[in-house]
Amino acid sequence: MSTQYSVVGSVAIIHLDNPPLNGLSLSTRQGILRDFTRALDAPGIDSIVLTGNAADFSAGADISEVAAPRSAAGPSLRELIEAFEDSSKPVVAAIEGTCFGGGLELALGAHYRVAATTAKVALPDVKLGLVPGAGGTQRLPRALDMRTAADMITGGSTRTAGSLAAIPGQKLFDLVVDADTVTAATRFATRMAASGRRPRIRDLVAAEGDDLGTLHTQLTKRSRGFAAPLIALDLVERARGPFTEGLDAEQAAFLELVGSDQSAALRHAFFAERTARRIPGMAAGTVARPVQKVAVVGAGTMGGGIAMNFLDADIPVAMLETSQEPLDRGLATIRRNYQSQVNRGKLTPEALERRMGLLDPTVDYADLADCDLVIEAVFEDMDVKRVVFTKLDEVMKRGAILASNTSTLDVDVIAEFTGRPADVVGMHFFSPANVMTLLEIVRADKTADDVLATASALGRRVGKVTVVAGVCDGFIGNRMLARYRRASDRLLEVGASPEQIDSAMEGFGYAMGPYRAGDLAGGDIGWAIRKRRYAENPAAPRNELADRLCEMGRFGQKTGAGWYDYEPGRRDAIPSPVVAALLESHYRDTGIRRQNFSAEEIVQRLVFALVDEGARILDEGIALRASDIDVVYLAGYGFPRHRGGPMFHADGVGLDRVEEALRRFDESTEPAPLLTRLAKEGRTFN
Ligand code: NAI
Repeated sequence: MSTQYSVVGSVAIIHLDNPPLNGLSLSTRQGILRDFTRALDAPGIDSIVLTGNAADFSAGADISEVAAPRSAAGPSLRELIEAFEDSSKPVVAAIEGTCFGGGLELALGAHYRVAATTAKVALPDVKLGLVPGAGGTQRLPRALDMRTAADMITGGSTRTAGSLAAIPGQKLFDLVVDADTVTAATRFATRMAASGRRPRIRDLVAAEGDDLGTLHTQLTKRSRGFAAPLIALDLVERARGPFTEGLDAEQAAFLELVGSDQSAALRHAFFAERTARRIPGMAAGTVARPVQKVAVVGAGTMGGGIAMNFLDADIPVAMLETSQEPLDRGLATIRRNYQSQVNRGKLTPEALERRMGLLDPTVDYADLADCDLVIEAVFEDMDVKRVVFTKLDEVMKRGAILASNTSTLDVDVIAEFTGRPADVVGMHFFSPANVMTLLEIVRADKTADDVLATASALGRRVGKVTVVAGVCDGFIGNRMLARYRRASDRLLEVGASPEQIDSAMEGFGYAMGPYRAGDLAGGDIGWAIRKRRYAENPAAPRNELADRLCEMGRFGQKTGAGWYDYEPGRRDAIPSPVVAALLESHYRDTGIRRQNFSAEEIVQRLVFALVDEGARILDEGIALRASDIDVVYLAGYGFPRHRGGPMFHADGVGLDRVEEALRRFDESTEPAPLLTRLAKEGRTFN
């Protein structure tokens, strides 16, 4: 049974009961129709309340059913909604918890809606490359104003019932209450039965006057080839016209998008993130260790950001530095970051103080002793790591987890600095660590299963997308990034300009191509690393163009010039005559004849480089699955989400074509053996 039927006085109450999220699967829809028919037929019943539970009214359609072939078995959500609208007895939706997608569309078909102030409503379909498919684009604009509805539908964002009910003139909620929603709805239903009125949202006229032109411009700029938001906006515009025409247009758009590559890619991304949480080979019954207090060693760029994750989640943090001065500096940076959130209205001053109050700064290792997990974020230098881990091994309590945020050093070596290598794990955050959602969990040779489980669970507790990686230089993400950068620098050397490369990648869907991104991050860090590498190994390959740029003091936006020029205080990248001259002199000096590249070839060269390195990473077991690589690239490296990640993208292109192109691009190197094998067998990564 996926619904339950009960009666209070003359009101029939239909409870959705399809754990865990009250998804609107076929059996739930059948249950609703059965109970609804029963209520219509019952002589003593005057009105009907439809409700869920405290956590979920309904989280919407079952995503795994979305792309399944349409079943002839009814009722469809649309049919259910029409049955409600035509009902001779008033239908009231009583909404608590999530009311998403199809759940909201169903509620929009009721005659009245009573909601808890805290109920969360959204039409998140665009996040899966879809548009609402059961009238959401036509009813929500009629119930709210055009602009609010358009924002919600094109962005898939979540609003509370309380905030929407405050909009003047809104018809979405008839009543919002702080408690006892179902009781309030039952009383309300009794009154409405007596009134005899059964208003339908479809009969309302969408409010005139809201110009969606600016939103259209913004979305065109932001969506970079991602189709669903603009299609959704067009549908919202149609809500100004006749209802059934809008509904038909919505249905046609929905059916087309369900079959699109973009939606398939976004569904892949959704399931890939979930799959990444499962760690194969983990002993059955592995239980994460409890983590009540976290320690962070090093209050620099990463340490500060890492600490903020835990403070935001109400987890106390002890923070250790070498001396008072860098400690104070680190603390001041954290406070400044929170203060800017306060200034932007994202945080209350009280919440700021509460977070700072959870922070326990120290210069004494003994103060870390009561922490359950410590994350080291000191200089990227093995000798410094040795000192820190030796010390941590001395002071941390038994069972505490010792994690390193190192981005390039060998976690197996770090683990051996301690007498408890099974408790050592890598937790590789990305900068800025309080903003970026990706967290690579690095499993060293001896890392215990429950340590891995704890690090992953803790990451998710603070809102991270976690992926398990094996030990190698750069783990999954940065190792692939190095290949991507080499591929793009190679293009630069033989004739493409930074603006050609960037605009090709932006056309593919990246927010920023490699050179605009490089200017934003700053070229000085990479240069310092390269100089160290050249000193250590004079035979190391050089990146002449990047080095010469840095020698000119062009570090990017921070110095007002990098691969591009910048006007003071502005971020617009202006093609630079200095860089053009640098490239010209490079072609002259090296005698390279400048080649021309199409945008398509630029994209292939860069993306297939990612794919090739990804295939090696997969083959070596550094990544557990191809879809984990996709998750890393989507969550951490700005790969366009509607393309599903590099490995999924390659599957779509066809691995034989990818393999053939890689051979053409670089005759001196064989493509990854796994790629060649799969291509030959006509198989895919995912
Ligand atoms: P940073 O130089 O900004 O901060 C390092 C901090 O550690 C400094 O405040 C320093 O005083 C402190 N420190 C040095 N030795 C110490 C010791 N013995 N005990 C306590 N504190 C000590 O460096 P950043 O960028 O925060 O990097 C830290 C670690 O995070 C490195 O391992 C780095 O590879 C890694 N990482 C850096 C990323 C980045 O984008 N910056 C991204 C991901 C990882």
